[in-house]
Amino acid sequence: MQTILDELEERRAVARLGGGQARIDAQHKKGKLTARERIDLFLDEDSFEEYDMFVDHRCTDFGMEKNKIPGDGVVTGWGTVNGRVVYVFAKDFTVFGGSLSATHAQKIIKIQDMALRNRAPIIGLFDAGGARIQEGVAALGGYGEVFLRNTMASGVIPQISLIMGPCAGGDVYSPAITDFIFMVRDTSYMFVTGPDVVKTVTNETVTAEELGGASIHTTKSSIADGAFDNDVELLLQMRRFIDFLPSSNVSDVPILPTNDDAERTEMSLDTLIPDNPNQPYDMKELIHKMVDDGDFFELQENFAGNIITGFGRMNGKPIGVIANQPMVLAGVLDSDASRKAARFVRFCDCFSIPLVTLVDVPGFLPGTSQEYGGLIKHGAKLLFAYAEATVPKITIITRKAYGGAYDVMSSKHIRGDVNYAWPTAEIAVMGAKGAVEIIFRKDLGDADKIAAHVKDYEDRFCSPFVAAERGYIDEVIMPHNTRRRVCRALNMLANKTVENPWKKHDNIPL
Ligand code: HXC
Repeated sequence: MQTILDELEERRAVARLGGGQARIDAQHKKGKLTARERIDLFLDEDSFEEYDMFVDHRCTDFGMEKNKIPGDGVVTGWGTVNGRVVYVFAKDFTVFGGSLSATHAQKIIKIQDMALRNRAPIIGLFDAGGARIQEGVAALGGYGEVFLRNTMASGVIPQISLIMGPCAGGDVYSPAITDFIFMVRDTSYMFVTGPDVVKTVTNETVTAEELGGASIHTTKSSIADGAFDNDVELLLQMRRFIDFLPSSNVSDVPILPTNDDAERTEMSLDTLIPDNPNQPYDMKELIHKMVDDGDFFELQENFAGNIITGFGRMNGKPIGVIANQPMVLAGVLDSDASRKAARFVRFCDCFSIPLVTLVDVPGFLPGTSQEYGGLIKHGAKLLFAYAEATVPKITIITRKAYGGAYDVMSSKHIRGDVNYAWPTAEIAVMGAKGAVEIIFRKDLGDADKIAAHVKDYEDRFCSPFVAAERGYIDEVIMPHNTRRRVCRALNMLANKTVENPWKKHDNIPL
């Protein structure tokens, strides 16, 4: 009996070594952890249950039958994060560069099926070179099945992809279907084809970082939702991140008890808005002062900074915050900001996370570059996302809410549940100067007359009261009471029930 037990331990020890000590050392030398070290850091201590440790590939081409490594380049299983069940798979770069064979795919598929069946989040840790080249179409078939399951699970369980090394081919397409992608700075890359192929096909010379590093995907392409300095920081932040997400679209949101009083007032907010309406202020100050303990997990921080998206909590329960940022492009809505916010709104709606929208928006960005880039369609994405969302929607207009952007930003007209305005709100078709120059064009030569018209327009329209008179704003509130009012409104909306008409699925302007 003892011999059998010893044999199991020996086989386990071999599997745990993956591609061998030399490759593990090389991995460490690059500043990266191994697949198992990553899983251990991410999950609660001793909670990992590994599956399929002894799975081998079945390839017999290119001498592969003599080159078998148990586990075949991916570590899979489940464990807990802060006590909640999650499923994980982590690519092992030390085994054939983490590349995907048919059996490697079967391991991932098993975990995907379990996560969906048992309604728990799935987290993929990627450090892999795509399809196992020696396996050819068998590997492509494996990817296809992974992609299918990614798609079926979308909107049912949260799917998170962590990019922790060079990733190519299928190892970027699967993450692209998931809800969130986070990267490690300087050691992780995402590209469909690597720099060598790029050089061959387009004769472009480009480094891995320039082609698909975190510096590109968090700023230019917006593929990644965030980046962290190293493996450890990323994994610890992901433990924090998971706490904002429900386990599935039918689970309750997780509650994190807080000592932050739901009735807390914040007097400093009464002076947040500058006297000069063209002077910016930092919307993040309002977010941090509103949410529990100032704890805000921002997404896509370095892309389309004119809109802020992220998770916070109010009275222990997660909310999704969408806020115009006057510090960047005066908070204007452009194509990038619209796409960024639309995707976030849809995630929150899938998973029953209430939306709190903070509005200070001068409108949509005019100009040929925006129009040629499809601003109409991208802006419509955000409008569509807000309009279809059935989660509780609370809106606070702090200053400007002009034109179409007023409608878009979770207004009453697209089923905002509770719409508040600060006394400093200006809800109008456009700013006073622009409006006067159009409707009093004949007076343009007379500065005094124009100034009088501007003053008149400001007095009449640049306030919350015209909208409040019509019931478009439920109440004009004191800025210092914002947290209290939002907490109360969320409580009041806790049992909100709205159903959209039956449809196979909608046709959002993609
Ligand atoms: C088999 C692979 C592999 C692959 C890497 N390796 N990629 N083995 N299939 N796809 C192996 C290498 O042979 C090497 O083995 C080890 O992994 C480490 O690779 P290196 O190249 O030494 O590492 P590095 O210099 O860090 O470069 C990593 C890399 C590069 C950027 C990922 O290996 C690379 O470009 N690989 C190919 C990427 C690719 O084109 N994949 C196919 C995509 S098509 P040894 O034994 O030396 O340690 C695809 C189809 C799906 O994925 C598309 C769906 C839409």
